[in-house]
Amino acid sequence: VWFLLGRRRRRQGEPPLENGFLPYLGCALQFGANPLEFLREKQRKHGHIFTCRIAGKYIHFLTDPFSYHALTRQGKHLDWKKFHFATSAKAFGHGSIDPAEGNTTENFHQTFIRTLQGNALDALIEAMMENLQYVMLQSRTSKRQCHTWVTEGLYTFCCQVMFESGFLTLFGKEFNPSNDKSLSSKQETERAHILNALENFKEFDRIFPALVAGLPIHLFKSAHSAREKLGEALLHKNLLKRDNLSELVTLRMFLNDTLSTFDDMEKAKTHVAVLWASQANTIPATFWSLFYLLKNPEAMKAATKEVQSILESAGEKISLDGKHISLSRKQLDNMPVLDSIIKEAMRLSSASMTFRVAKEDFTLHLENDFYNIRRDDVVALYPQLLHFDPEIYADPLTFKYDRFLSESGAEKTDFYRNGRKLKYYYMPFGTGIAKCPGRLFAVHEIKQFLALVFSYFEIELVDNNVQCPSLDQSRAGLGILQPANDIDFRYRLKCL
Ligand code: HEM
Repeated sequence: VWFLLGRRRRRQGEPPLENGFLPYLGCALQFGANPLEFLREKQRKHGHIFTCRIAGKYIHFLTDPFSYHALTRQGKHLDWKKFHFATSAKAFGHGSIDPAEGNTTENFHQTFIRTLQGNALDALIEAMMENLQYVMLQSRTSKRQCHTWVTEGLYTFCCQVMFESGFLTLFGKEFNPSNDKSLSSKQETERAHILNALENFKEFDRIFPALVAGLPIHLFKSAHSAREKLGEALLHKNLLKRDNLSELVTLRMFLNDTLSTFDDMEKAKTHVAVLWASQANTIPATFWSLFYLLKNPEAMKAATKEVQSILESAGEKISLDGKHISLSRKQLDNMPVLDSIIKEAMRLSSASMTFRVAKEDFTLHLENDFYNIRRDDVVALYPQLLHFDPEIYADPLTFKYDRFLSESGAEKTDFYRNGRKLKYYYMPFGTGIAKCPGRLFAVHEIKQFLALVFSYFEIELVDNNVQCPSLDQSRAGLGILQPANDIDFRYRLKCL
């Protein structure tokens, strides 16, 4: 009977099993409706490890943070690539990027580390600082007067500013061969192209969870066409018409051309994947950071004070006469208050899930016990359990801007559970080998965004008593959750 239902039975030495009621889907619907509640309930029932059948897969959830290292330490039995590679190919529509399958010999992960960290990061930060100011002061507000209030959705604002600036930073600016168009009309054309790409990005991003869940993109006509249009914009022949491409994109173009057998559109789709990875989490993380600041005057005061003092010590003056502020990587690294605010905003909004697939039957060793895992089973962590654990983070649903600050005002790194210091207490960027390679850039760009917003604008919520929007759970497991609704705010350029 179990076999006919497509379910399996728990064998000796295996974790407690939840088959769920539905054939094939198992616990998928309960999990999907509210993963945190579902996992908390199973944790109460079974303890620190249990297995759930979700959409045909058997997933072993580890819920004790002191066992999280099992995932990295027993890496030889666990594969992180297959699922990532297959998901990327399915969602973005390029051929397999698994070197074992013969389309390319590029090691994508290494390319990302090489071009998003180390010296390459300095160049990205410098370009982003310039582009954010270009977007905030010229591209978006060229015709605006100081002292004129503009009311807008906060998410819309963060989305437009970060997408346009991030796009220009990675993919450069349109090449402008001299013709008789005025500078401002060239800027307007460029902006229209990027906002068009943003619309396509949003259309595609909306169905991203469905694609990860395995639904074919052909079911979603407009999102499919949006993805193709993004691909079109990022064809190598179009990228070659742009100035100031980042090292990441230049190197990826070279490796696409020399190490792969991808056709032109497939090459372009590997760039769509990079565009998505660089924006999909950064935009909501920026929104939550700014939203919580606007809701917490004490946090806002501490943040603006820190920004002012860094600008002063860097000898930077804020002006609207075309001279942009520049802050070095070192100066940005010396902003513990903003660091803590961004961390706290991401602690509250992140729902990424880390998982690995068992390469063979093996025994998983945890802190005090061990369990048999079958080949092709998934071992997973859901760090929101950790981020919302009241023992680690007192009053876990409350935003506390200084939660990640020590008494001396430096970064706080000691968090405890059961009286024991935790190694893993903050994981929006994943962990182990597949940890987000763009995490340093992401935090810097959000910091730059906040520092510049405070420098150039006065900004306030339309309604100071507005409720905190709830988290849109449809993307649970995939990263930073978006707000379920937008929030009105207003801003005006300071008259400097
Ligand atoms: C992968 C989070 C921003 C590039 C990931 C993963 C997470 C993540 C959770 C998967 C790790 C795993 O599977 O264990 C975030 C968050 C961000 C952010 C929360 C912003 C707040 C960025 C940015 C970039 C970027 C700005 C690039 C400019 C990537 C890439 C991967 C990745 C390329 C795939 C890595 C690989 O498979 O080798 N990110 N990310 N991310 N992220 Fe980020």
